[in-house]
Amino acid sequence: QPARFTLDPAFTVGTVDPRLFGSFVEHLGRCVYTGIFEPGHPSADETGLRTDVLELIRELGVTAVRYPGGNFVSGYKWEDSVGPVDRRPRRLDLAWHSTETNRFGLGEYIAFLRKLGPHTEPMMAVNLGTRGVAEALELQEYANHPSGTALSDLRAAHGHEDPFGIRLWCLGNEMDGPWQTGHKTAAEYGRLAAETARAMRQIDPSVELVACGSSNRSMPTFAAWEATVLAETYDLVDHISLHAYYEPADGDIDSFLASAVDMESFIENVIATCDHVGARLKSTKRINLSFDEWNVWYQSRWQEHARSADPGDWPEAPRLLEDAYSVTDAVVVGSLLIALLRHADRVTVACLAQLVNVIAPIMTEPGGPAWRQTTFFPFAHASAYGRGTVLDVRVDSPTYETRRYGETDLLHATAVRAGDGSVTVFAVNRGRTEPLPLEVALGSLGPTSLIGHTALADADPDAGNTLAGPERVTPHQVPGTRLRDGVLSAVLEPLSWNVIRLC
Ligand code: AHR
Repeated sequence: QPARFTLDPAFTVGTVDPRLFGSFVEHLGRCVYTGIFEPGHPSADETGLRTDVLELIRELGVTAVRYPGGNFVSGYKWEDSVGPVDRRPRRLDLAWHSTETNRFGLGEYIAFLRKLGPHTEPMMAVNLGTRGVAEALELQEYANHPSGTALSDLRAAHGHEDPFGIRLWCLGNEMDGPWQTGHKTAAEYGRLAAETARAMRQIDPSVELVACGSSNRSMPTFAAWEATVLAETYDLVDHISLHAYYEPADGDIDSFLASAVDMESFIENVIATCDHVGARLKSTKRINLSFDEWNVWYQSRWQEHARSADPGDWPEAPRLLEDAYSVTDAVVVGSLLIALLRHADRVTVACLAQLVNVIAPIMTEPGGPAWRQTTFFPFAHASAYGRGTVLDVRVDSPTYETRRYGETDLLHATAVRAGDGSVTVFAVNRGRTEPLPLEVALGSLGPTSLIGHTALADADPDAGNTLAGPERVTPHQVPGTRLRDGVLSAVLEPLSWNVIRLC
């Protein structure tokens, strides 16, 4: 029995904000050091940036990069990371039990983004863990004020005459989490976020601000936290953050493949909470969602590592959270991208956490090569072809049984119509053993030809790319897909991520 849906240009979700394809660089493990930045590496440019990695990031299609954390930001002193490198202090990084050398800092981050090109924008977090309003304002003045004040002139003296132009700011990170340095209650954080936002808008009313939502949906304070924080900040912020990481629980791959069911209902819960607060405040303003950390993350492996770590050891750029991703993981990442696109009317920023080495689509070896993990491909496809208007897709699909989510559709799909009228269908077959026939009725949509059908699937669901075999898994073209008499028909391989392009 085929899975089916109908596309109609009159039924749309919304326009995709390019920042839906953001990522995240945290001072954590080897994301920065020996990831994007490795002076002396054969591919390093004159500033120490690895040009092989820059090339892969461009190919990935990243549109925004959140920085410098994550948990790291809650101990971050921005002023340590600017000025002459040989005078920058070494600091303890409490979040990741490491030593931060500050050889890469704020100016290097902006230079890195500029090298990536004009389509990648900064997303800077301020420290609301150990710090507060004054330090956030100082950072904003240093970064963005044109000239003629102590901090803007200091930036120029550090070699950055042009302001950094950071528009998008996160007001802290995961402040609801007891693991966060300077963790706060919702009321404490709500007040601090409101006062920081108010002051930052005094410098520049046009900044875009993200308030911290819950660290994840299973936090005991989830939803109450968002309601309290938004009651304080509703008129002062633009977005509330969401974070979610998925991994198979107790080897339950069928539920893992349905992770997007959780992500979609998480998004809908947060929208409901935002709109509830808006209704209570009788506001016509709409708060959007910044899903600024999402991915597959084998957190159980990290917890094991953290338990056995030596408390006296504070290494520089250790190998942390270096998950190696499989085909199964890539299909889940593809499905999470579909979930984000299906809510593009409210999710206007999203960041794949993270970018290089740390739970990342790109891996590097110090002194050696860089390569694409399996999860690189769905992200690159979605960023390349997922721009335009998301069409409202309601699937009629055969189902399968999952322990965690009950009866679940085998097909997860969305479709995006670009400005030139071309349409891309993104689809995942969650079934592990059987191919899934798909029929899409195009009605008056317009496309009459198939550009191509690309898939990521493999006879071995555990296959991945490694230093020894960096191209073991790559996408392939799927033969047999047809567009005839207004109906697209395809067969989705078992456990597959699919991109079908029409014009
Ligand atoms: O991305 C890794 C960590 O996950 C981040 O530092 C933190 O914000 C989250 O818990």
